[in-house]
Amino acid sequence: MGIMEDSWLVGRKEGIQCGQNLVLCFVSLDCGGTGNFTDELGLEWTPDDRLIDGKITNISVANETRKQYQTVRYFPADDRKYCYTLEVISRTRYLVRATFLYGNFDNNNVYPKFDISLGATHWATIVISDANTIELQELIFLALDPTISVCLSNATTGQPFISTLELRQFNGSIYLTQYESQFYLSISARINFGADSEAPVRYPDDPFDRIWVSDSLRKANYLVDVAAGTEKVSTNMPIDVSSGERPPQKVMQTAVVGRNGSLTYRLNLDGFPGFGWAFTYFAEIEDVGNKSRKFRLVLPGMPDLSKPIVNIEENAQGKYRLYEPGYYNISLPFVLNFRFGRTSDSSLGPLLNAMEINKYLKKNDGSVDGSVIASVVSLYSSTDWALEGGDPCLPVPWSWVQCNSDPQPRITKIELSGKNLTGNIPTNLTMLSGLVELWLDGNSLTGPIPDFSGCVDLKIIHLENNQLTGELPSYMAELPNLRELYVQNNKLSGTVPTGLLNNNLVFNYTGNINLHKGGNGGNHNKIIIGSSVGAGVLLIAIIASCLLMHKARKNYSKQGQLGHPMPAERLVSSLGDAAKDAAHCFTFSEIEDATNKFERKVGSGGFGVVYYGKLIDGKEIAVKVLTSNSYQGKREFSNEPPKFLAYVDLVSKLDEETFFLTLFHDACSFFLSNEVYFSMSRGIFFRNLVQFLGFCQEEGKSILVYEFMHNGTLKEHLYGPRTYERSISWIKRLEIAEDAAKGIEYLHTGCVPAVIHRDLKTSNILLDKNMHAKVSDFGLSKLAVDGTSHVSSIVRGTVGYLDPE
Ligand SMILES: *[C@@H]1O[C@H](CO)[C@@H](O)[C@H](O)[C@H]1NC(C)=O
Ligand SMILES: *[C@@H]1O[C@H](CO)[C@@H](O)[C@H](O)[C@H]1NC(C)=O
Ligand SMILES: *[C@@H]1O[C@H](CO)[C@@H](O)[C@H](O)[C@H]1NC(C)=O
Repeated sequence: MGIMEDSWLVGRKEGIQCGQNLVLCFVSLDCGGTGNFTDELGLEWTPDDRLIDGKITNISVANETRKQYQTVRYFPADDRKYCYTLEVISRTRYLVRATFLYGNFDNNNVYPKFDISLGATHWATIVISDANTIELQELIFLALDPTISVCLSNATTGQPFISTLELRQFNGSIYLTQYESQFYLSISARINFGADSEAPVRYPDDPFDRIWVSDSLRKANYLVDVAAGTEKVSTNMPIDVSSGERPPQKVMQTAVVGRNGSLTYRLNLDGFPGFGWAFTYFAEIEDVGNKSRKFRLVLPGMPDLSKPIVNIEENAQGKYRLYEPGYYNISLPFVLNFRFGRTSDSSLGPLLNAMEINKYLKKNDGSVDGSVIASVVSLYSSTDWALEGGDPCLPVPWSWVQCNSDPQPRITKIELSGKNLTGNIPTNLTMLSGLVELWLDGNSLTGPIPDFSGCVDLKIIHLENNQLTGELPSYMAELPNLRELYVQNNKLSGTVPTGLLNNNLVFNYTGNINLHKGGNGGNHNKIIIGSSVGAGVLLIAIIASCLLMHKARKNYSKQGQLGHPMPAERLVSSLGDAAKDAAHCFTFSEIEDATNKFERKVGSGGFGVVYYGKLIDGKEIAVKVLTSNSYQGKREFSNEPPKFLAYVDLVSKLDEETFFLTLFHDACSFFLSNEVYFSMSRGIFFRNLVQFLGFCQEEGKSILVYEFMHNGTLKEHLYGPRTYERSISWIKRLEIAEDAAKGIEYLHTGCVPAVIHRDLKTSNILLDKNMHAKVSDFGLSKLAVDGTSHVSSIVRGTVGYLDPE
């Protein structure tokens, strides 16, 4: 990426904020910003104004006053990558944090989706699902080089953009793992339990500026299923967290306690399933007298992992001291259920202060040619093309490079025509053993042509229009794959190797006054000549080197063993206060106003008719007016076990639309801790499920209100009038299938009890304005009770869409 020298990256320390001891240094880049400032936390922000690429713009988001979130830098949605290169200290651990606040910066309201990478490693796919919510990604890594690059690329919708880029240096070893040379730690959860507010604890309470998220922050799909009897406790006593990077005292001074003997939680882990690093932090902060507090971790379905009994005071050797049991490498699911349970001989329930879960993200070692090309690029450090940053090939190649598709790619093409290059041809280019095309024409290169005999794949060489001197080297005649060689208009001398004149080669060497055809001299124009069989000895040498090279390549890829890193796709959208706003009771007149007296019908089905509406705040809605005969019969639930019947009794209505209605009705009048309510409201807020906004039950009508899906049903796109209007590409079809599968997966695994849709069909897959798919119509869904043996076998759904089984 085009960045001038002496910026905050290589070679300039400005913008790096170091602690008083000059050991801990932070970089806080305000992307798109224009001046330095210090925020209210005391963090010193600097603008990323040395970046040549991209554009900057102001944004404005309600309730967001922090200066670093008033601007963004955005980049073209092309096939390039755009990189920030930051200086780091080798052999030091860092936290790197990138944040993204869309704020409709392009006035397009098309939510961007693009990738970020750290060097050659795919870090995450940034999916914006709300213009006013900050997306955040964090990674812990051990620096092995003097710089790191964070790159944005691969926009599939909208334009890539960034709000802030932060680097926080660690000085201890809490994040030391035996895997750290091959893996990064991607942060999935860092939770402060018993927090006294929704505000996170971070700098200056945490000297490393980690963000300890408050457990009272009600974020969709996050930290639910709290056991009855869970209470917050806190203390003002100092906590001995000892030195290093353990959680800050403020985090340890609060906790939750399970008064009824259990602490339970369920949370969604970004990036999982996979292997992760998971630690819990305990400190006895209650006045327990001589009572005992002993408990165990229980992970459902993972009995082997239950850690030995925790007795905080004993383990920490005293009160107000930290004890931190955990796993360096544990396999975790996307939806994690966990419980701390009191042991039978304990009088007090469990206590939990904080926890941290990070996912191992496999590092991609990048192009084999990375260091070679880096040394070439360093010769031209003041030119734009040399400052693109990141890996030459991954995730996408530099603009003047092409690579093959090996897991550890090789550079196959260098295209530096007309770049005003001076001096000799960099000899390091000869070490690019996978090179197929070399374009260095139209520069001011001088000196002799270096020895490219190791680049046996070379097919096309453009060296014309330079000031190269010396002879045309004889190895050129031996390059087994050479098809085109252009050296015209240089200052070459001597004789043309005869091998080049006997080839099936496009060869131009005119305009070199002192270069002669062997024997009789004189210049020749373009000559096209026959086959290329070199001297026997040389041929054998080439074959041998080919074999060696092949072998070396094989070994290398075995050693690397990577394949592509798992995309750390964010499955979860954060919808702020979602759960609280879950079930709004609309009045009938509100609905009438919103729909302009049910003016525009947008669909109909077994359940009734759907109308378009717009709320006073501008939010577009779909209003489903249920017909009374749309309710499902009683019979369906008669085989269900008592647990389910209890719910059914509770709500006294036996069809799901009404069932939901009643639940949401309850939710309206008081805050429900009902498991089903949580499950369902969470389900409905899942990104790939159509969002339920509320209901109305007045004037004998039952009305459900959902978010409006601009692009209708998938069915309409496949069969209906929209087929011609806007046909869907194969990639889009795959994405839609993936989105729908995620919605269904969530119903199956993210909700307890699981929900089985049982009527998935193209008319129940709706498309929003960005053509993201969401699953809708739970009218036929039913709650399946824990354990597959209880799943009802009664077939429901629509003929033609059912499994043959
Ligand atoms: C952004 O806002 C600042 C101050 O509020 C103003 O000086 C600047 O011109 C604005 N930039 C753009 C691109 O609108
Ligand atoms: C963690 O453990 C698994 C299974 O034992 C192993 O395959 C993996 O390499 C380990 N490390 C990481 C970082 O996943
Ligand atoms: C080419 O490089 C020379 C010497 O570095 C410089 O003076 C000249 O302006 C450059 N020309 C272009 C077109 O960049």
